[in-house]
Amino acid sequence: MKVIKAANYDELSRKAAQIIASVVWNNPRSVLGLATGSTPIGTYKELIRMNKEGDLDFSQITTVNLDEYAGLDPSNDQSYRYFMNDNLFNHINIDKNKTFVPNGLASDLSAEGARYDAFIDSLGGTDIQLLGIGHDGHIGFNEPDEVFYKATHEVKLDAMTIKANARFFENEDAVPRRAITMGMWAIMQSKKILLIASGDDKRDIVERSINGPVTPKVPASILQCHRDVTVIYTY
Ligand code: GLP
Repeated sequence: MKVIKAANYDELSRKAAQIIASVVWNNPRSVLGLATGSTPIGTYKELIRMNKEGDLDFSQITTVNLDEYAGLDPSNDQSYRYFMNDNLFNHINIDKNKTFVPNGLASDLSAEGARYDAFIDSLGGTDIQLLGIGHDGHIGFNEPDEVFYKATHEVKLDAMTIKANARFFENEDAVPRRAITMGMWAIMQSKKILLIASGDDKRDIVERSINGPVTPKVPASILQCHRDVTVIYTY
């Protein structure tokens, strides 16, 4: 595991974007695993800048996102599909038909999970997976549990996650209680994993994830078992 301390959020964003850009330069047909949350916004801004300045071409890139709220239409401005369009896809030369987010509207979310995993498999997996981290150690929406869930699956969000994500909604009651998330298989099969964390409130969980025991009680700790992980943090 490569652990990099950035001087501040801008440096974290630049370093993260450079790592993603190197993957794209190396293979313009790469499959990028992308994440939502406030942490990657700066990284996406950097990628947009590089694209606008002509240094980075997304025309042949495919993306798969980690997760989506259950029951939110893609046109809902709180959906993760909307977030991705708004914070990245609308501003770069990517073919939106090659950008994928789990379908939170599927009537059978476990069938949707199986379809999503088979789809990622058919792409040959992801070349890089970008991750943020929740205060309880969740990656995607893999919440602390008794086991690591392998498949893309439906989850019931923890009270802590609902509280943390309420800042994007009108109030806590408006936060969906359920979501669909890539499981550990889809995350861990990625050739490269990049985890970014910003802020003092993430210090404790980042330390526990990278130095503590590997346990499903701290979902991000599973990353210690992957051979190519970079963690960039600032706090
Ligand atoms: C959400 C997302 C996660 C993300 C987390 C942290 O719960 N599902 O993928 O890592 O938020 O978000 P933030 O970066 O805003 O702290």
